[in-house]
Parts: sequence; C-alpha cells; structure tokens
Amino acid sequence: MADTNMVVLTTQDSGILARFLTNPAASHPGATSTTQPAHQRRPNKSPALRARRLATLASLPSAAAAMVSAEVGIDYVLWTEAEVSARVGEVAAELAADLRALPEPAVVVGVATGAFLFLADLVRRVDVRLAVDFVRVESYGAGTESSGKPRITADLKVDVAGKHVVVVEDIVDTGNTLSHLIAHLEKKGASSISVCTFLDKPARRKVSVQLVGDGKFYRGFECPDYFVVGYGLDYAELYRNLPYVGVLKPEMYKKDSSN
Ligand code: PRP
Repeated sequence: MADTNMVVLTTQDSGILARFLTNPAASHPGATSTTQPAHQRRPNKSPALRARRLATLASLPSAAAAMVSAEVGIDYVLWTEAEVSARVGEVAAELAADLRALPEPAVVVGVATGAFLFLADLVRRVDVRLAVDFVRVESYGAGTESSGKPRITADLKVDVAGKHVVVVEDIVDTGNTLSHLIAHLEKKGASSISVCTFLDKPARRKVSVQLVGDGKFYRGFECPDYFVVGYGLDYAELYRNLPYVGVLKPEMYKKDSSN
C-alpha cells in the first residue's frame, strides 16, 4: 500500500471523524453499476443503517480507525475486526458442537478466493478432527454480473464420498454459486452437506439453497445490500486483506465503470 494513502487517524481527530460521520456518498442515487458483481450492489441507505454506521464509527478502536484511514476507498466500517472475531467464534462453537457429534471427521471445503480468511479463522476455533480442502467456482468475470452458470475451475483434492461436507463461503448472494457447488459435491457422493457463510444476503437470493441430508446452514451476519469489501471480499481483487468489513466509496467503482 502506498504511503501516500496513509492518514493517521485517532478517535481524537474530530475533524476527520466528522468527515466519516457526515459523508453522504453512500446515499447517492444511481451508484449501482450494472457492471458490478451482484453481491456488490448498493442499496439505498436506510435510517437504520445510518444509525448503525454512526454507532460503529463512534465505537471504533483507534487501530481500526487508522486502518480505515489507510484505505482511501472505504467509506465506513460495517463490522469491525472485533465484531467479526466475536461472531466467528460463536459460529465456530455452534459448528464444533455439531461436528463433534458426527461418527467421522467432516470435510470443510472453502470456496476460493473469498472464503480464505473466514475459513482460516473458523477452523482454528473448531476443536474437532476435520479435513480442509478448497474449490474454485467462477461465475463472475472481472467486474461483470453473475452469468448464472458457475463453473468449477479448481476441484477438490479430498475424496468426499460418504463424508459430511461443510462448504465455507464468504458470501451467499444469488445462491447460484452455492447451488452449483452443492450439486457437484452431491455427485461426488457427499452423504450430507452443510453451508457456513460469513455473510448472507437473503434479499438477493434467486436460487434457494438446498442442503443435503442432515446439513445445516450457518451464517455469520445477515448483510445489507451494500457494496461491501474486506475479510475476504474484494472489489477488483483488492481489499480482501482488510480485517473488517467496510462499505466501498461509490466513487471507487463509478470511476472504474465509466472506463
Ligand atoms: C463470490 C463469493 C461467492 C459468490 C456468491 O465469488 O465468494 O462464491 O460470489 O455469489 P452468488 O451467491 O450470487 O453466486 P466470486 O465469483 O466473486 O469470486 P471470489 O470468491 O474470488 O471473490
């Protein structure tokens, strides 16, 4: 990251904080670009979300505030690093209890690339014997809408026949990716399939996700229809390394979509 982008922000810096608090960019109409992935679309800003934004910023630890300031593309934080960590711990506890009851180790399958951080944090907190593998499913070209026809472009190494599989996603939006992957895993003979997603956008669902056997659906947060990045989620492959979930400034993708 270029040093020129770095601005040291502390909670005492009321001028900069005020800019975050009053920035109206998130409510600009017409900001949604038809060239963006569906899960990145932005909604109109609701009063509830504005209140959420204010509360989050007011409680932002100085380290997180500094990180926000370092990322010039971020409008505001939706879930802080501490909130993400706490919620991942809760989901991991629930998942661990269920996996512990199984007769044999489950296979946890991360969907690359977006799930990499969630998967890593999750499995470290699941104190149960399990296998980990990855798949890559592609349905969005660079900056395009979902084709609705995902393709498995990198398949499993582990044999899932007769196994309980837990698919780990960063986000479930239309449900296309997940439905295609579940059908793929079922064909490979998985005996049951659960889904564990960090974010869930049920308002955007086009395909209902059918679990297999005794599979369960776990989710970290229900996500509003905002252009969110961080904790694995990208915009043009950037921002995945942010330890929090933030809303991208509209000018970042409006600028790109006008090219
Ligand atoms: C994202 C995300 C999910 C999928 C969800 O992947 O990681 O896999 O989109 O969208 P859907 O429910 O509408 O199918 P993307 O194709 O952007 O790749 P990435 O994981 O590399 O970011």
